[in-house]
Amino acid sequence: MKLAVVGGGSTYTPELVDGFARLRDTLPIGELVLVDPSAERLGPVGGLARRIFARQGHPGRITTTSDLDAGVADADAVLLQLRVGGQEARLQDETWPLECGCVGQETTGAGGLAKALRTVPVVLDIAERVRRASPDAWIIDFTNPVGIVTRALLGAGHRAVGLCNVAIGFQRLFARLLDVAPGEVHLEHVGLNHLSWERGVRIGGPDGPDVLPALLAEHGGALAERLRLPRAVLDRLGVVPSYYLRYFYAHDEVVRELGTKPSRAAEVAAMEKRLLEMYRDPALDEKPALLAERGGAFYSEAAVDLAAALLRGGGSPVQVVNTYNNGTLPFLPDDAVVEVPARVGPAGAVPLAVSPVEPLYAGLIAQVSAYEELALDAALRGGRDRVFKALLAHPLIGQIAYAEALTDRLIAHNREHLAWA
Ligand code: G6P
Ligand code: MN
Repeated sequence: MKLAVVGGGSTYTPELVDGFARLRDTLPIGELVLVDPSAERLGPVGGLARRIFARQGHPGRITTTSDLDAGVADADAVLLQLRVGGQEARLQDETWPLECGCVGQETTGAGGLAKALRTVPVVLDIAERVRRASPDAWIIDFTNPVGIVTRALLGAGHRAVGLCNVAIGFQRLFARLLDVAPGEVHLEHVGLNHLSWERGVRIGGPDGPDVLPALLAEHGGALAERLRLPRAVLDRLGVVPSYYLRYFYAHDEVVRELGTKPSRAAEVAAMEKRLLEMYRDPALDEKPALLAERGGAFYSEAAVDLAAALLRGGGSPVQVVNTYNNGTLPFLPDDAVVEVPARVGPAGAVPLAVSPVEPLYAGLIAQVSAYEELALDAALRGGRDRVFKALLAHPLIGQIAYAEALTDRLIAHNREHLAWA
């Protein structure tokens, strides 16, 4: 089995490779190709990746290349984990929205729209080249913003599934708190990528007993602290929101806070520099502890699970993924992309039925989904008016004056990445 990772020069890659090495029975990889335009990163990242495989006795071959077409040729699956413009572009996304009193974040709000506009054309070009080189390959998209990027991929007819580590992170966390095996924990996860709630935590299977009320009673304090939301909110709602909901439920507080501390992009850039130095050390043959300070915990396990299900009918039969709604949430169009538990196998992902979504969540989901539709339109067709409409539709923006000011800033800061600007 051949897997290609586009953006393979990412400092995250050792996390992925560690998962591939540990879980090789679930996903036996014969060849892993790391594809990246930056030879400077491919060297140290590829070197450490090979040492991780060697240390763990993995028989697979790891190669590196900057030639995308050659790298993805004959791949069974292609993972996309790229960041157009790197951490510098992310730093911009996190900064200029604050000038308008709006949250500056990688995937949420105006910064997330900027990321979508930079990313969608690049990902579509890559996917087209994957289709030419390996028409049957599955595309697993980790590239943010995952909801919009997946919608772009599916709209262009690609065999794609979008993936994020938020759900698997909760599954692993709840399993630890409940002292059960992670595979026993079935989340009633509902919403969109980075806009989701856990409405139930079932043990043993999707129809097993729901232990969420007990989990909240016993561990609500710790969960609330982790999510930085008031415990009373978790108790009153009876759900666990993803930590991205803090940008909505505590928007103004977050804006004040972001104004007083270094941006996440700056922190990550410093971490990446240190990580690359570590990766150059020929004595290092495992992922360093510092990598655990990145947000991507467990993403390798999610990737292995999904690739195993798509390629071999293995892995967990039900996984939380991003795919077409197709009536799952009846208040959204069929071609909206939702993040829900789905039955996954060689034919793709089919969402499980979802019980009616309360207006408290459905309203926000519908509004952000409409924003995503407009964001994709702006990414595909360009133009100031489309950017403005997407921003006006976003529940964290919504006012003409903000949308105008943010449109100007978005375009000014991203001109080099936007063909139409
Ligand atoms: C989580 C999200 C990812 C996001 C990451 C950011 O893992 O699910 O989509 O990219 O956090 O982590 P970072 O360490 O780059 O801030
Ligand atoms: Mn994510």
